[in-house]
Amino acid sequence: MRTLIKHLLASTEPREAVTAKGWVRTRRDSKGFSFLEINDGSCLANLQVVVDAGTPGADQLAHLNTGASVAVEGPLVASPAAGQKWELRARRVELVGATDSSYPLQKKGHTAEFLRTIAHLRPRSNLYGAVFRVRSRLAYAVHQFFQERDFVYVHTPIITASDCEGAGEMFRVTTLKGNIDEKPEADFFGKRTYLTVSGQLEGETFACALSNIYTFGPTFRAENSNTARHAAEFWMIEPEMAFCDLQGDMDLGEEFIKAMARHALEHCAEDLALFGKFVDKALHERLRFVVERPFVRVPYTEAIEILRQSGRKFEYPVDYGLNLQSEHERFLTEEHFKAPVTVYNYPREIKPFYMRLNDDGKTVTAMDVLVPGIGEVIGGAQREERLEQLLDNMKFHKLAPEDYWWYVDLRRYGTVPHAGFGLGFERLLMFLTGVSNIRDVIPFARTPGNAEF
Ligand code: 4AD
Ligand code: MG
Repeated sequence: MRTLIKHLLASTEPREAVTAKGWVRTRRDSKGFSFLEINDGSCLANLQVVVDAGTPGADQLAHLNTGASVAVEGPLVASPAAGQKWELRARRVELVGATDSSYPLQKKGHTAEFLRTIAHLRPRSNLYGAVFRVRSRLAYAVHQFFQERDFVYVHTPIITASDCEGAGEMFRVTTLKGNIDEKPEADFFGKRTYLTVSGQLEGETFACALSNIYTFGPTFRAENSNTARHAAEFWMIEPEMAFCDLQGDMDLGEEFIKAMARHALEHCAEDLALFGKFVDKALHERLRFVVERPFVRVPYTEAIEILRQSGRKFEYPVDYGLNLQSEHERFLTEEHFKAPVTVYNYPREIKPFYMRLNDDGKTVTAMDVLVPGIGEVIGGAQREERLEQLLDNMKFHKLAPEDYWWYVDLRRYGTVPHAGFGLGFERLLMFLTGVSNIRDVIPFARTPGNAEF
């Protein structure tokens, strides 16, 4: 395997002969020699290459424009100039793939909107290269976090017949033509099927066998909300724990978010420095704030009181029985508590059927974790483990128990208190990078009206 520029730049001593391959970022021509900055995406930094006129392949220099791919051989030597420790003195240059003046990433300073239209090229820019390296590293950190704690990774299905959230925001999967509701039993799976909105229900069945499990995979929502924090296709992390209550669930959620922030600070320092400089000046302060500060826990009813007495004019109304909007969530964490906040015990009406009814008969054991800059990153709950009560919840939410017979069975056969949550991976990445639009932390975002690439 070839040596990546990241490793060349981490050299501790000069090297007699190395090969570097990558894409040209810039070329500067001087009398008798040229400088190339090349980048291979393995790290943010470019490798500076010095090519003397007369070097084999130097006759191709005129074609080594921004965006062209190149291979260079030569010694790696201490760079006499400021700005980099090492540079490569070319003994041979090879133009691998040429480009022309239509290359859209010529200049710096493109808008995020424009770069979304060239999502196939934007990972070659500094910012998006950094975003997608952090995305990869954090996916690794997610597995590390759960594997170290003996959670079992479960692959829950992408195609499903049940609506976990009961919100009817599912994409239909069908091979039928014409009126697809006329004979659903004639469809590919013999019934109506959809893309999953959550792996939770299937995850619960595995928690009720293997104790602590997690899922990490794509989920889909056909909600027509064109906001900066909603995507139609996003990745969710869903741990589920048997013999666990709401307290234990909140403990895990908070510990998890802190661990992810710590991991990013430790392992993605170079990329985070770029975000701190160009995307969000307050990023490091916010990350440390989350790592160091204890999360505040507040019941929903109290959160509503705080918002009502804030004297703030909000765009959306605040009242018991209404959902918290992101402006409310951000007020709580950024202004009122100045800390990450976990809101729990929400009214039964606004939460799904699977949440456990509290003794007050009005609220359920829901919990949402809110972080500054984003609002909700985690939604979770202790689940209703009592058979009669679950059936009552289903009636309350107008769901048919037959459609969830296997889920109900868990309450018939050795039921246990259990709890879990879902964390939107992209929301976590927005939080860790300061990138303010979800479309910019997904390689190829799917939003209403958009499925290019
Ligand atoms: O709060 P939600 O809807 O909870 C569930 O789906 C539960 N079944 C999870 C569980 O308990 N296992 O979604 C969980 C998280 C949200 O807090 C948010 O971070 C993210 O998923 N999320 C979205 N992220 C991007 N785009 C969307 N359209 C999202 N909808 C939810
Ligand atoms: Mg939610």
